[in-house]
Order: sequence, then structure tokens, then C-alpha cells
Amino acid sequence: VSEPNRKLLEMYQTTVDLYHYILMETEAGQAALDYVHARGLSDELLREFKIGFAPDENLLEVYLKDRAFDDYQLLHKSGLFITSQEGQLFDRFKGRVMFPIRDAFGRPVAFSGRILVKNEQVPKYLNSPETDIFNKRKILFNFDKAKAEIRRQKEVILFEGFMDVLAAYRAGVKNGVASMGTSLTEDQIYLLERHAQRLLVCYDGDEPGQRATKRTLDLLEPYGKMELGVIMLPDQMDPDETLHKYGLEHFAKILQENRVSPIAFFMQLYRQGRNMRNEDDQVDYLHDVLPELAKTNDRIQQDLYLNRLADEFHLERADLRAQLDQVVSQVG
Ligand code: CTP
Ligand code: MN
Ligand code: MN
Ligand code: MN
Ligand code: MN
Repeated sequence: VSEPNRKLLEMYQTTVDLYHYILMETEAGQAALDYVHARGLSDELLREFKIGFAPDENLLEVYLKDRAFDDYQLLHKSGLFITSQEGQLFDRFKGRVMFPIRDAFGRPVAFSGRILVKNEQVPKYLNSPETDIFNKRKILFNFDKAKAEIRRQKEVILFEGFMDVLAAYRAGVKNGVASMGTSLTEDQIYLLERHAQRLLVCYDGDEPGQRATKRTLDLLEPYGKMELGVIMLPDQMDPDETLHKYGLEHFAKILQENRVSPIAFFMQLYRQGRNMRNEDDQVDYLHDVLPELAKTNDRIQQDLYLNRLADEFHLERADLRAQLDQVVSQVG
């Protein structure tokens, strides 16, 4: 690590400690503490993830300067401030619950801050900008803590949000990670491939979540090293909401039992918004589903689903097979 980067890492560690202290121990953090408590985060969990609160005031510059972080350029480049035209530093994060983002070695390199009360004016989550120590394309939230468990189970679960990773963690499912609110990057995929044989996508059950699941599966498909699956949640909820509704034990069970193959996921996805008693819709559906079925090399799985489709739509199995083979040859 270069000297400026070492200093920057120290600055982040100091800031993590400050925000955490403010959340846990001060009057200024009380409303935020009530908020995270209401969302089910225990003090133990808050300590383990060093979750914090950035109050609605400018305090960080003075605090850091007092602790010998007095290099203006480094403060300016840290991502912790917004610099005015005149060069003044203002705290970037204000009035937000602070989730430290750690690198693979467990060192905090960035933050994501959540506002307490959602409103249209500001983004719900605000992430640190990229810096010399934070490349968001390479970082996965919680990878440092999850790594050992990913290796042990040979399996990783990919969630949409930080709160979802924490929900799973609370339920004893500790091999969960999340990207930084963006789609997976090649770097992140290579990282996961090195440690996991199986990847399960457990995104929000709402429509955007389902669309994102499709995107992620399409993205992962050409890599082909990891076996892929989807954890489908009930009631269009996200994992954190599912935990809230069903409780820890039932939620843990859902994470185990609601696993389906990518094909099974696509088969239900393409049903949505279609009337499966309408013949045109049936044809459209088959046109969507067969290419997905064509992607697997698993003949047994193909046969299984072909039989189901034949039964459901009262089609000849042989006709479907012929169609599928045609699609396969088109796909190449
Ligand atoms: N996200 C973001 N900026 C937003 C909204 C979302 O960066 N304005 C990212 C965050 O990483 C968030 C993820 O996208 O965790 C999923 O979004 P969403 O489902 O809306 O948020 P939740 O994780 O459910 O957040 P919460 O439960 O705190 O509302
Ligand atoms: Mn409380
Ligand atoms: Mn979502
Ligand atoms: Mn969500
Ligand atoms: Mn949520």
C-alpha cells in the first residue's frame, strides 16, 4: 500500500469509528438508533458491522484534522466531503445511517448512507464516489465476512441490498453478498468464481427485482463455471421484508426451500402479464421459454420441462422437441 493510500485507509477507519460512536452512544444518534432498532438490527449486529450515523452537520473536517489528518488534498480526495468552488469541505453524508463498505481484507474503503425517512428529493442510498482505495466494480458488500462461509458451503447468495445481506446474516445465512446497487461486473464474477461452485440470486420479489434477476442470470450464463440458481421469495417482497413478515426461522427455511433452477425461474417469469388460456399468449410464451430451455446442456432437465410444457398446453412432445432442436441450432 502506498503512503497516501495507507493514510486514506486510516482516515476511513477513523471515520467509521466516529459514526459508529455517534450512533451508539450519543443524543445526536438517538433517532437513527431507534430507526435501526425498529428495522430489527440488534446492538450486537450494529457493532459487528460497525454501522453508524452521520449527523446533519459539518463535523468531520475538524474531527479528522484534530487527529492529524491535515493533508488538505487527501481530505479533498477522500470522498468523505463535497468541496465547494472556494475549496471548502462539507461533509458529504448528512443525516444518514452509515453502512461501511469493506474490501476483501475487511478494511473500510467507502460508505453507503441511508436516509431515515424516504423522500423524492434525495436518493435513498448515497454511495461514496470512487477513490484510490474504492473501486466499486471490484467490491462486493460483505465479501470479507462471507468468504469463509462461501468456501465452506461452496456457495454464495447474491442479494440486492445491504439490508438483505444483513437479514440473511441474522437468520444464520452468512454467505450473502451484494453489489453496490449496480449489476455484477466481470471483476466481481471472477472473484466469486474463485470461491464458489454455486451462485444463488436472491433479489427482491418485486417486478424490478425479477427483471434484475433475469439480467444477472443472462450476464452470468456465458461464464459457466458456477452452477446457477434463484431463490424466489413470496409476496413480491425483498429478503428483509420477508424476514420481517415471517420471522427468523421461517425466513431461513424460505432461503433453503425456495430454490429453483434458472429455467424454472424463467418459466414463471414469462408467464407474468400473460393469459395462459389465450392461444396467442401461449405461443408467445413458448417462444420465450424454448430458447431458455435450449441453453442448458442437461438433457434430463430439458426433457422434464418439455414434458411439462407438452402436458400443460396439450401439445405433442415430439413437436416441442423438434422446435427446441431448431432453436438450439439457431442459437448455435
Ligand atoms: N440503491 C441505491 N440507491 C437508491 C436505491 C437503491 O444505491 N436510491 C441500491 C442500494 O444498494 C439498495 C439496492 O439498490 O440496497 C436495492 O434497492 P431497494 O430494494 O430499493 O432498497 P433496499 O435494499 O430494499 O433498501 P431499504 O430496505 O433500506 O429500503
Ligand atoms: Mn431503540
Ligand atoms: Mn429493490
Ligand atoms: Mn429491496
Ligand atoms: Mn428493503
